[in-house]
Amino acid sequence: MAAATSTPIVVLGSTGSIGRNVLDVVSASPEDFTIEALSAHSQVKLLAEQARRFRPQRIVVTDEAADLTPLNDLAAEMEIFQGGDNLCRIASGGEAKVVVAAIMGSAGLRAALAALEAGKTLALANKETLVAAGGHVLRLLAEGNGSLIPIDSEHSAIFQALQAGNREDVVQVILTASGGPFRDRPASQMAHVTVDEALNHPNWDMGTKITIDSATMMNKALEVIEARWLFDLRPDQIEVVIHPQSIIHSMVEFVDGSIMAQMGAPDMRIPIQYALTYPRRQPCPGEKLSWKDSWELSFQPADRERFPALDLGFQVARDGGTAGVVLNAANECAVAAFLAGEISFIDIVPACRGVLEQHNYCPEPSLDELLALDGWARREVRRWVCE
Ligand SMILES: NC(=O)c1ccc[n+]([C@@H]2O[C@H](COP(=O)([O-])OP(=O)(O)OC[C@H]3O[C@@H](n4cnc5c(N)ncnc54)[C@H](OP(=O)(O)O)[C@@H]3O)[C@@H](O)[C@H]2O)c1
Repeated sequence: MAAATSTPIVVLGSTGSIGRNVLDVVSASPEDFTIEALSAHSQVKLLAEQARRFRPQRIVVTDEAADLTPLNDLAAEMEIFQGGDNLCRIASGGEAKVVVAAIMGSAGLRAALAALEAGKTLALANKETLVAAGGHVLRLLAEGNGSLIPIDSEHSAIFQALQAGNREDVVQVILTASGGPFRDRPASQMAHVTVDEALNHPNWDMGTKITIDSATMMNKALEVIEARWLFDLRPDQIEVVIHPQSIIHSMVEFVDGSIMAQMGAPDMRIPIQYALTYPRRQPCPGEKLSWKDSWELSFQPADRERFPALDLGFQVARDGGTAGVVLNAANECAVAAFLAGEISFIDIVPACRGVLEQHNYCPEPSLDELLALDGWARREVRRWVCE
């Protein structure tokens, strides 16, 4: 039985890697959290199992074509909706205080904005929301709509390290990157990368799209853009450094030369729980570092020639406006084409660059303009793939 003080939570994307880790954190502290609503896209059987276990009031299956039979026995007990439009309903309605945005890609954008508009705390894993619509998110927050706590491990680390000093004393933030599976692979061998190799991340167990983004380092490019919005930084205040062990999750350098780093095992349950309990800390089911073992931390500059996505990320962070939504949509579409065997690994970044260069830049787009450009960028990549 949940305690009267437990926090009601909505998990958008509960069947994904982040979503499953959220439910693991919730299971470990049943007195602290209740699940109000869950959403999945295609994994209806897994959603049914989660719903039986966590007894939410509402569930959403976003895939209109999905077979809902596995949910039949739950219909008397909870509301079941089908179709993506219902995400906003569960993100903004009900009593939930916290909405976890763990949907992959820009499919999660509208619901994340709806949660903020409804005054909820948005625990944000979906970096695409800030990449595509950072200006909108900032405006909503500045107008007093809801609050935002990052889940992305790098941004959680920066969020935590910033608490050690005054905001105006920050010189730069240093985003750490594992370098992915091709950290040491020569440029000449990148053309022959297979899907299986690209999906074999050395440190993190994540969803398919973000794993490919880690291999191209587009993930770090998206995180540069995310950090620019989230912490109101100039792009020249953001540095990317390769740190193969993924123990230091990012750092903040202050004017006196002090650098505050947040460390921990590479386990997403730690930043997830911090976002759910902030500003409190409590025991977490995540892995712990062992001080009985010998281990070393190393750092090296990021190779921007072998990983051209990084320069693209900094360019988009400087440009703002519509650049983020175009980069994000083009990348989602190019990654899907790579996974489908339609383009090679080294085509992903040029496809994104090409679409960015062609697009009709607008510095202060409306949400409708952003969504229209999202569709346009996807069509452009498809056209290029099919040529
Ligand atoms: N995984 C990590 O460690 C990690 C770390 C930092 C940030 N993030 C970010 O967190 C987000 C989720 O990543 P993930 O690794 O958890 O992804 P994932 O494992 O692929 O899970 C994605 C979730 O979104 C749902 N989904 C997929 N397509 C959808 C659509 N069109 N409409 C609505 N829902 C849809 C999936 O439903 P089904 O499974 O039912 O199809 C699943 O619940 C991404 O933005 C990623 O960049 C992830």
